[in-house]
Amino acid sequence: MEIKLWINGKLTEDNIEPDTPLLEYVRSKGCLSVKRGCETSNCGLCTLWIDEKPVLSCTVLAARANGKHITTLEGLQEEAKEFGEFMAKEGADQCGYCNPGFIMNVLAMVRELKEFSDEDIKEYLVGNLCRCTGYMGQFRAVKAFLNYKRGGER
Ligand code: FES
Ligand code: FES
Repeated sequence: MEIKLWINGKLTEDNIEPDTPLLEYVRSKGCLSVKRGCETSNCGLCTLWIDEKPVLSCTVLAARANGKHITTLEGLQEEAKEFGEFMAKEGADQCGYCNPGFIMNVLAMVRELKEFSDEDIKEYLVGNLCRCTGYMGQFRAVKAFLNYKRGGER
């Protein structure tokens, strides 16, 4: 089937098999930040945005993205780097395996939540598993980053 979509602002047109997962499709286009952890909607590693809303690309068909704008970490490098400084400051970096999907949700949270509580942050990130169980460091980094993005200090 024919699809036409934008990946990180670049127009792509293709003829694909109808059952192609979006995860496979964006990786075939060079977006290797999008990774497969579980393939069962449980780990959050494959998170990307469709029209700025986070989705789990392992369980979404590429056909569903037809006519839409896809964003992956490759398209958000500056912001991801900025957030990375907060992660480093909190000593939250461990193996980094969970980082791509986790960062996609953090950057979506920056856009979506005008105000936030600790519970809001935890709820937003509940689907992002970290095998190193680095959750508290990540939580401190996210909170500091959100405060900074809302006009607070670094
Ligand atoms: S690979 Fe998609 S949620 Fe784990
Ligand atoms: S930092 Fe290792 S899986 Fe999260």
